[in-house]
Amino acid sequence: MNIIYHEQSRQFHLTNNQISYVIGFCDSGELLQYYFGKKIHDRDCFEAQCSKGIKPMMCSPADHENFTLELSRLEYPVFGTGDYRTSAYEILQENGSRVTRFEYLSHDIVEGKPSIDGLPATYCNDDTEALTLILSLKDELSQVVCKLFYSIFEDYSVIARHVEFVNEGDKKVRILKAYSLNLDLPDQDYEWMHFQGAWARERMPVTSAVTGGRLSVESMRGISSANYNPFVILKRPATTEDNGEAIGIHLLYSGNFIAFAEADPFGMLRAAIGINDKWFDWPLESGKEFATPEAILTYSAEGLNGLSHSVHDLFNNNLVRSPYKNQVRPILLNNWEATNMDFDEASILKIASKGQEAGVELFVLDDGWFGKRDDDHAGLGDWYVNTKKLPEGISGLSRKINEMGLKMGLWIEPEMVNEDSDLYRAHPEWVLSIPGRPKTLGRTQLVLDFSNPEVVDAIYDMLYKVFEDANLSYIKWDMNRSLTEVFSSNKSADEQGTVYHKYVLGMYSLYERLIKAFPNILFESCSSGGARFDAGMLYYAPQAWCSDDTDAFERMKIQYGTSYGYPIVSMGSHVSVSPNQQTGRCISIDTRANVAYFGTFGYELDLNELSDEEFEKVKKQIVFMKKYREIIQYGDFYRVKSPYNENIASWMSVKKDKSVAICAIYRNYTPVNGGYQRIKLTGLDPDMLYEDENGKTYYGDYLMNIGLDVQDNDQLWFYDVGDYRSKVVVLNRK
Ligand code: DGJ
Repeated sequence: MNIIYHEQSRQFHLTNNQISYVIGFCDSGELLQYYFGKKIHDRDCFEAQCSKGIKPMMCSPADHENFTLELSRLEYPVFGTGDYRTSAYEILQENGSRVTRFEYLSHDIVEGKPSIDGLPATYCNDDTEALTLILSLKDELSQVVCKLFYSIFEDYSVIARHVEFVNEGDKKVRILKAYSLNLDLPDQDYEWMHFQGAWARERMPVTSAVTGGRLSVESMRGISSANYNPFVILKRPATTEDNGEAIGIHLLYSGNFIAFAEADPFGMLRAAIGINDKWFDWPLESGKEFATPEAILTYSAEGLNGLSHSVHDLFNNNLVRSPYKNQVRPILLNNWEATNMDFDEASILKIASKGQEAGVELFVLDDGWFGKRDDDHAGLGDWYVNTKKLPEGISGLSRKINEMGLKMGLWIEPEMVNEDSDLYRAHPEWVLSIPGRPKTLGRTQLVLDFSNPEVVDAIYDMLYKVFEDANLSYIKWDMNRSLTEVFSSNKSADEQGTVYHKYVLGMYSLYERLIKAFPNILFESCSSGGARFDAGMLYYAPQAWCSDDTDAFERMKIQYGTSYGYPIVSMGSHVSVSPNQQTGRCISIDTRANVAYFGTFGYELDLNELSDEEFEKVKKQIVFMKKYREIIQYGDFYRVKSPYNENIASWMSVKKDKSVAICAIYRNYTPVNGGYQRIKLTGLDPDMLYEDENGKTYYGDYLMNIGLDVQDNDQLWFYDVGDYRSKVVVLNRK
């Protein structure tokens, strides 16, 4: 890994064994992008593509008539000086102008990677893991400094970027837009992939041809959202899961975002990601700084699986912070789908005790334990126990759960309040709402104004007390509505454009304080399922509830889509009851587990209600998961066959040394009188001899080129007969 500065050409080359990223200043002082992709040899001067010459209707800087920004690949572009594509930032100055001209001020190359105050960011475990270039530019007229940060890691094909603005002038400016990353690619031979959905069907991949104009996704919900994820991919049209080029772009942020690709009429492609600039207006007083969230740019020459491997490893090793980092996750039992809010101590202990008998390790008490919470109309905000349900409190319950040999976990939803709550009656001004206007409800609840530190403090104090009194090992932090009427009664008119972002910062700060106070707690984030499943959250909560849809066949699609951008160990996945509560579909306990294994794994049903035969299977499933979870959660995950349009889907996890592979194959419908079907595996060592549980052996090259037979004419030997069948095959080095 190296960051080379060529003084003569004023170019920077960031490189490791896998990638190169080259930027530099041109004669007119603009910062240009020269290259991002597979590692290439260094040279003293890289030549800019696309920036020579000028065409009619184009404008050029004074004294540089033969140069135009419009044909240049720009590193961090502004609007208003001749580039007519979408700009990366906008600073409104005292005289009303939005034009700036940032020129080289200084640069620094440092070992390691600086953190970003109040925001999630990848980090180094030791400073030798990464190098960082901090490139400072200055706009002389406004005296604003723009610092561009670039970190390159030794081991991953990624560049981490973010931007900081410092107002060194004596006049206030307003930041109206500040994206985290802009990327100008020299051609348009790409497809754009984004991850789209809604409640209970999150992160479904959608691929669109890049044709002309803009493709974009965004959130204005105050959360990253189930609708669009702050992770997109640009891939070559021929790129497959295992071959070809792809570029991933993640934003480490959990609020409003925008990501787009803009194909211009001159054959270039601009891509960018950042905080959504709609309703964003940040006054920057003299002497103050503003930092954007971090964006991660990933390059893969080994297809989409290769791209996923880089980000999975980066996030597991250099983003997650928790005692559970790189540790297998406890197998949990959650009572939500078993009881909803209708429980008491006896019914909870009965469910937990059956879980203990089955071998689970952690019991999680979900919504309904606090305030007057018997349904979703009341109680949020009153974070003290409902002693009618739990006479000995959470501390008494957790003691009894611990005595069974189980860890205890608890659900909270700290950002919300019901109008029917003591908190709201005492502090109606603590919600996001506009004076004189009606309040919009979501799940009959209002959103607390987390942009106001006083509100965050009050919630912290209440939660601290609950956490301190009980021996908690796990917290599920839920968030069940999108933001509306985003207005803070503790801010002036001038500051209302900061509220969306300050809300996110307030939420992060509460996480940070609770993590510091209770460092051993494992946090799982949740937002009506997976509506805030993003890389920013992983910095605080190393796992996230993937979706409220626990139907195994729907879940397989959700987990498959999620795996493009997020590690397997980050995906909360449970076996729930059949018929399924969301779809009414009946699926065997075997297939339900075969899907849930590929995640954190747990159960979300009353195990007392299973037949003896099913319960025996559950015990075996838990033994299986305990044996193989390290490989499933931390091996290399390969998407093998897509579940979206076909009857058979498959994925697999391969131990890093390739000696063990866990392959799962799922079949929707039993075909009638079908033909042969094979699944070609991937990621194995071609020369290694593997043995399955029946003692059958195959070389890796056989499995990858000929494949596993999964169906013959009578269809029965691989799966049981019937719909929604599946099988997990374990291959061990012989
Ligand atoms: C939404 C979550 O996704 C569910 O798992 C559950 O915790 C409910 N909220 C509780 O209200």
